[in-house]
Amino acid sequence: MFDINPFTSTTYKDGLVDNEYTDSLTTLCLTAFEQLPTQEEKAAVARWLFELSNCPADDDFYWSLVNRTIYSQIEPKLLAKTVFDFVLEKPDQYYFPKNSQIVNPFDELLEDRSFLYFYTSLLPKEAVIYLSEQEDKYIKAVLGGLIYAEPFSNLIEEIRNQIKNPENPPEVTVRLERMGKILLGLAPDDSRPFHTSLESFYKSFCIGEYHTNEVVNQEEVAMVAGLVKETGLEEGSIVDNACGMGRIANTLAKNGYSDIVGVDISPRNLHTAKEHDETGSIEYRQADWADTGLRPESARAFLLVGRSGHHARNSYEFQQISKEAYEVLKPGGIFVFDFADPDKGMYLENRRNFLRILASLNFPLEKLGTTPEEQLKEIDNVVDSPDGINFTNRWVPQIKDILLELKIAGFEDVQIIRKPIEGWKGAENLYFIAKKPL
Ligand SMILES: C[S@@+](CC[C@H](N)C(=O)[O-])C[C@H]1O[C@@H](n2cnc3c(N)ncnc32)[C@H](O)[C@@H]1O
Repeated sequence: MFDINPFTSTTYKDGLVDNEYTDSLTTLCLTAFEQLPTQEEKAAVARWLFELSNCPADDDFYWSLVNRTIYSQIEPKLLAKTVFDFVLEKPDQYYFPKNSQIVNPFDELLEDRSFLYFYTSLLPKEAVIYLSEQEDKYIKAVLGGLIYAEPFSNLIEEIRNQIKNPENPPEVTVRLERMGKILLGLAPDDSRPFHTSLESFYKSFCIGEYHTNEVVNQEEVAMVAGLVKETGLEEGSIVDNACGMGRIANTLAKNGYSDIVGVDISPRNLHTAKEHDETGSIEYRQADWADTGLRPESARAFLLVGRSGHHARNSYEFQQISKEAYEVLKPGGIFVFDFADPDKGMYLENRRNFLRILASLNFPLEKLGTTPEEQLKEIDNVVDSPDGINFTNRWVPQIKDILLELKIAGFEDVQIIRKPIEGWKGAENLYFIAKKPL
């Protein structure tokens, strides 16, 4: 008789190792798993399944089955504990230099990292809280692994969310802040702040110069106005998405443009923007940049300037903004946005620095490329500090990534204008003008 309890049976393990029977035995094994009565037994079997991760059966199908079953069966906190315990119990194997090479903790856990990917995307809350309870050296090692599986910015965002979550007690918040600082390349007990929002980041240093530089404002507004004119569209709004304190929208209105809508997520910035709208004509609205609530085909221009796009977490978020632009624009309308050239000046320097942060987390840089230059090409996240005190992360995409997302959103006709950014160590700004087809 077949022993259907995967915890006691050796048949399953043999079956999983033998590819011929993998599918049916995995299914059977997981069905039995579902019938285990207690959470502890399920967790024990989950652990047993991790142990099998190096068997030839760990293909995508196997893992997607395992993942789905585990997620639907085990209470998240217990699953987090099971996963991290599994890794932490094997320090020699997973955490410490082996033959002078740092071994990534998750490399051997899962070859294709699909488990970790699903795990961190579905259960980030439990992952970050459980991880924050570990020693710093383990935190660093695991963070290195997590960054590989999941974009850095998602992880740091989840840490921010959990610090702001009032259900978490103060000691958890303190631990999470330490983790956040490690990710920003600081020592965990560094006294500089870990900002939980862009608002608090911007509030902490003087950005007065940034939005009162009238020459830059007028130049930029003149460029935008010229581009709007070139569309030949006489009707339709000009949407200033992520308008901040109204630098562009207010200047456009002052220069005689009407039907301007300013969108931003920050109530504080919107309040300041409204206060400085001398014409009183601008509609300011609080909304997410990828879900503005504006009518389809209602705008002749959709702006995302002031290098706001660097605050998108990753290319997917930028794709969502581009899709929103495409929907809100009239045919022939333009999506105008800017990013700093990732290979110039301060942004290049910040990307190099990010490689150093990854190295400090024991991230296996050799996986990114064999030379530092090859590795650098893979870096599109940076940690940036305007004053050496306040830090935030930013997305710094390559031009080809931006063009790809535009294409997915429907934009084919794209023009790029390059302008130096004064006083920023040779940095250059790239303005993209993407036209919605007629
Ligand atoms: C660098 S400022 C640029 C402001 C303005 N465009 C300018 O050029 O002065 C970035 C702005 O993006 C806004 N922002 C960030 N994330 C956002 C989101 N998800 N939805 C809408 N606005 C967002 C911030 O609140 C901030 O005002």
